[in-house]
Amino acid sequence: MPVNLSNGKPLAWDSAKLDADTKAMLDNLQPNILQAHVRESMSLLLVHFGDGADGRRFLRSLVPLMKSARKHLEEVREFNRSKKRGTPYVGVGISKLGYLKLGESTTKFTDNAFKSGMKRRKDTLSDPAVDAWEKHYQGEIHAIVLVGDATPEPVAATRTRVLALLPKTAKILGEETGEGLRDAQGRGIEHFGYVDGRSQPLFLADQVAAESGTNWNPFFPLSHVLAADPLAPHPSRHFGSYLVLRKLEQNVRAFREAEEALADALGFKGEDRPLAGAMLVGRFRNGTPLRLHGRPSAEGHPVQNDFSYRDDPGSRCPVSAHIRKANPRDSRDGGLERALGVMMARRGQTYGRRTDRPWDDASPATRPTGGVGLLFMAFNSSLQSQFEFTQQSWADEPAFPAEGTGHDPVIGQGRRDVKVRFPTEWDGKKLSAPRQQVPQTVTMKGGEYFFMPSLAYLKGL
Ligand code: HEM
Repeated sequence: MPVNLSNGKPLAWDSAKLDADTKAMLDNLQPNILQAHVRESMSLLLVHFGDGADGRRFLRSLVPLMKSARKHLEEVREFNRSKKRGTPYVGVGISKLGYLKLGESTTKFTDNAFKSGMKRRKDTLSDPAVDAWEKHYQGEIHAIVLVGDATPEPVAATRTRVLALLPKTAKILGEETGEGLRDAQGRGIEHFGYVDGRSQPLFLADQVAAESGTNWNPFFPLSHVLAADPLAPHPSRHFGSYLVLRKLEQNVRAFREAEEALADALGFKGEDRPLAGAMLVGRFRNGTPLRLHGRPSAEGHPVQNDFSYRDDPGSRCPVSAHIRKANPRDSRDGGLERALGVMMARRGQTYGRRTDRPWDDASPATRPTGGVGLLFMAFNSSLQSQFEFTQQSWADEPAFPAEGTGHDPVIGQGRRDVKVRFPTEWDGKKLSAPRQQVPQTVTMKGGEYFFMPSLAYLKGL
């Protein structure tokens, strides 16, 4: 029976009743796609092959360092039982130019964004000119090797093993180092200081069961994240996923100044001042959703995700807020993000060290203006209808979901000409006079599209 990607039920990956094709899918799928792999520490190696045959041998030689999605899920279960740590994550992605270099034809890949490569999509995405990207992204990136784990030591050891396998004809164009950022309570945050990585599409039965909600259904079918691997021995049982990588630099000082200026303009005083930033993001720094609360809920409260924007025309959470633009969740079972298959599995990591405390209220003047940001990564079954659609048709589109909404204040690219209005109190009726949008504080420094092939494909190289 072919793997059912559109099943209305989450995948019970450990069920004895699984059919042979689904079992083969799990044994050949890379980890970190269906469920996030621990990756507090990460190394991203961007590889260029001088010789195709050497490139094939290199990728094949990585397989013994890799594990399957099933092995990863078993490790997670074991960790939850006994706290026994799993093995490091090694992931491999190949770009369109990479496949060509390996001597493959890419005609069987259906995703046009992947087949163009990110550089040629820069107008669609309103990205900076390629010569303004960091140098290592300007070249021909053929493959990416991702190494991740809970601590730096196993990542360093695994990275050394990967580099030892690199043929002389290949070179590392560049490397990114991801380092998890945590607030005082130990929650994962991004550099503007907000809890991140909370809302995800969930595909697996055990994950969905652990997060059942009455207002938001976190379950999404596998069709949101898996794509048949067209070059594998059996594409009906061997799957992969498209990875988008974008290095997004954050000007933290400018964002903090924008929060302060907005709080002043809306007349927020004292304990209400954090409302301004929450109106830009859609959550307070500690993750409290603006849809549910007008003040950050007490520390120690689990970060809530059981909400939809039904019955909130924007008086609680502005329709322009980052999380509302990026996931409109009109009802429990969703709106466009489900109907159009837009939700992607975000698996990014922060980069860059700093000495200040990103979650506190210290003055904007003490904040970094560059050198820190997000290595945005997400898995898609279609880059065009998921990542690109979110960036282009939602974040960068001032008329989404309605005229006068403006750009996504966090990630929107392009001219922020449209004037916007904000609620002057949480859950009130009054709106501010139209005002300039907050300035763009996130800058794209480079990136690429990859396909994460099945292990069956890599073994056969
Ligand atoms: C530096 C860049 C970015 C920052 C600082 C940022 C920040 C955040 C934060 C704080 C959250 C809330 C945590 C959560 O609900 O999980 C979030 C959620 C989200 N972000 Fe971003 N993000 C960035 C880039 C992007 C990009 C490039 C996209 C897609 C094009 C994106 C799409 C999303 C989505 C889909 C959600 C979940 C919304 C939901 O389901 O409620 N983000 N982001």
